[in-house]
Amino acid sequence: MHYIQSIHSILRWLVLIALVYAIIRAFIGMSGRKPFQEGDHQAGFFATLVCDLQLLLGLALYIFGPMGWKNVRNRGMGEIMPNAVERFFAVEHIAMMVIAIALVHIGRSKSKKALGETKGHKSAFWFYLIALLLILASIPWPFRTGFEGHKWF
Ligand code: HEM
Repeated sequence: MHYIQSIHSILRWLVLIALVYAIIRAFIGMSGRKPFQEGDHQAGFFATLVCDLQLLLGLALYIFGPMGWKNVRNRGMGEIMPNAVERFFAVEHIAMMVIAIALVHIGRSKSKKALGETKGHKSAFWFYLIALLLILASIPWPFRTGFEGHKWF
């Protein structure tokens, strides 16, 4: 479980870099009124790929790790919900990340349908941007109270 957690921790940076790259491409395309092209789609596709990988690793951590399902089963929601850190891993992290990854998928599929048109950039930009903000807000950053033991990498 430990090495899965380490990969999940490092992969966050690839998720963030892939999304920022796709967002910058979409922004440039949008402001230059360029058509949405294959390269733009590939940037979004790569972001979807790393997000899906992160989802798989996250699910493994949730099912087999100490902070997910096991904690819910052993202690019960009544004890978990008042504790900010336990609630975060049992409910908030998974819920927000699943929503964010779904938005990345929607953005990719909408922009793919608009290949060759300028509006593809607009879908990509907004869906990826909102997903990025949700992800940034739902990472257990070590500077956040309660997550001091968590890593930067
Ligand atoms: C883009 C999506 C995601 C990002 C960027 C992300 C990032 C992270 C980070 C940075 C940690 C802390 C790792 C550490 O301290 O070593 C973590 C922990 C965790 N994540 Fe995610 N995560 C994502 C999605 C998910 C999803 C979808 C799930 C569940 C299905 C999940 C389940 C977990 C669990 C259970 C832990 C706690 C591990 C533990 O301390 O035992 N993550 N995540």
